[in-house]
Amino acid sequence: MKHNTKQKPPPNNCQLSIINYQLKSFLAVLICLLPAISHAQQPILPLIPYPRSVEMQGGSMELPEQVNIYTGKETEQVALTLQTFFQKNCGKDVRINTRSKVKATDNAICLINDPSFSEESYNLQITASSVILQGRPSGIFYALQTLLQLMPTENTQVISLPQLSIRDEPRFAYRGVMIDVGRYFYDTDFLKKFIDCMASYKFNVFHWHLTEYSGWRIEINRYPDLTRIGAFRRTTRQGHEQYTYDRLPNGGYYTQEDINEMVRYAAERHITIIPEIEMPGHSLAMLAAYPELSCTGGPFKVQEDWGIEPDILCAGNEKTFEVLENILDEVIGLFPSKIIHIGGDEAPKIRWKACPKCQQRIREEGLKDENELQSYFIRRIQKYMESKGREILGWDEILEGGIAPGAMVMSWRGEKGGIEAARQHHRVVMAPTNYMYFDYYQGNWRYEPLSIGGYVPLDWVYSYEPYSKELTPEQHQYIYGVQGNLWSEYIHNETHLEYMAFPRVTALSEIAWSPASARDYTGFRQRLSENLLWLEKRNINYRIPDPEGLNDMVSKQNEIVIDLKIPVKGGEIFYTIDGNDPLQYGKKYTGPLKIHLDEKIPLDLKCVVRTPLGRVSRIYSAQYTCRK
Ligand code: ACM
Ligand code: ZN
Repeated sequence: MKHNTKQKPPPNNCQLSIINYQLKSFLAVLICLLPAISHAQQPILPLIPYPRSVEMQGGSMELPEQVNIYTGKETEQVALTLQTFFQKNCGKDVRINTRSKVKATDNAICLINDPSFSEESYNLQITASSVILQGRPSGIFYALQTLLQLMPTENTQVISLPQLSIRDEPRFAYRGVMIDVGRYFYDTDFLKKFIDCMASYKFNVFHWHLTEYSGWRIEINRYPDLTRIGAFRRTTRQGHEQYTYDRLPNGGYYTQEDINEMVRYAAERHITIIPEIEMPGHSLAMLAAYPELSCTGGPFKVQEDWGIEPDILCAGNEKTFEVLENILDEVIGLFPSKIIHIGGDEAPKIRWKACPKCQQRIREEGLKDENELQSYFIRRIQKYMESKGREILGWDEILEGGIAPGAMVMSWRGEKGGIEAARQHHRVVMAPTNYMYFDYYQGNWRYEPLSIGGYVPLDWVYSYEPYSKELTPEQHQYIYGVQGNLWSEYIHNETHLEYMAFPRVTALSEIAWSPASARDYTGFRQRLSENLLWLEKRNINYRIPDPEGLNDMVSKQNEIVIDLKIPVKGGEIFYTIDGNDPLQYGKKYTGPLKIHLDEKIPLDLKCVVRTPLGRVSRIYSAQYTCRK
């Protein structure tokens, strides 16, 4: 390179101040850009939930044609999952070598079982020549989930991985999703597919809501009528868009063999299944089979519509407890989970008030009222479960009339119950409706499938913080975890359930797993835009998120700029601004839109998103108004 040796004349004062100004501006811009520049140098790793610590080492490594995996016996399943992945996605020859003790080895993937790690923590190290997954078996399983998310989403012979070092551990011990199979029955193949997805996002609890007023779904050998009668309803109200309804029969149940298989399948993915047996309310299907357990004697039919029914289990009848204990004996035999959910929510007291047996119980036990009778009911069940070495979990109504010793609370009517329970030193799972009810709308109701109501969009879920400010740091230790709930009044099939669950479940995973300090919605959306391709490859009917930047706006100016972000990597947006259907008439979005607004006439921007794999979103829209 030639140096310019020609001297410039010294600048005059005026020139100096201009140069000074330019220099300062340049420096100011540089300082502003520095975080962005250093960030830009780091590749965005499409990981969800984001790990606690990621150190990029620079450079990459390419997996050889023949991949050697070293594993101990206890992590063979992880090795097999990797082998299947490599064979399916890139045609690699994978050899699994089982050893009693695995050491870090060059040119290999090494699964190192290290008891010095805490239960779920792990390290993942990718060097120039090896991939090392280290932790206890569940940690190694989570390291595998991270590694799989680093793989290219497209099928390719060449797998290039960034050299890095990840140290990771969960924030919360309990990371759950609940599915209500009581209102609509979903088969075990679907539930397994769902559990696979949960495992990818490092959830560890599947809360299986097995009994409802509209369906008893678990086979109990001692009481066959629970499923013979209680698992089927002649008709339902299946809501559709434009508020039209079908009335179709629905039903089904899981045999004990199905349940054993589900428990095994989930455990292999480090997921505990917590079954829920609802009591004393939400029990009409049980009463349809055994009306003698009610206050009035019935007869009853399995609930065909939905809504809280007045008929609940009689708390004055000893037979109720005998039957429940027998049922719970079989439940305990089927589910190894230490925690069993016993419901406890929404039990109207109208029948108890009028029932001589319930009133006699109140008198005999010296109870104040029907709330205390409910507390008596739950305490009795808690004592029984304790005698069997199990703990109970119940909806926050179990606080009313006094909480049973050792009971865990699932806070759903906001956080109030959870806060109260934590103050009383009971463990809490936060699942407040306004953040964690994934049966609520996630977009503009005009364009969404009919839902039960509410509004819990993706960013709302992501903003949830389970450590309430109303609790002290000492009390935060009782916040055991967090859970998203999928109630199914309006979710009559599996693809619709996937639509309601994803991607909100992915946002939840980050609340449950990642440190609070790592929470960053913009970064999350960027990572999600790639991660969604995995969901699509798995044939999950996820809701394509609304493009960021598509927001209703009132402007004081006529000229506005609308800058949209494409929500799925490699996807496209098609839009209209004349009210027409964007799917049919839309123009392809290629960059920020400069739009002139007429005063008083609002402009509707409508768009659809098409993913690179071909899925098309519903219509998303925003209204822009000029008001001077
Ligand atoms: C509930 O949503 N009834 C717990
Ligand atoms: Zn009664």
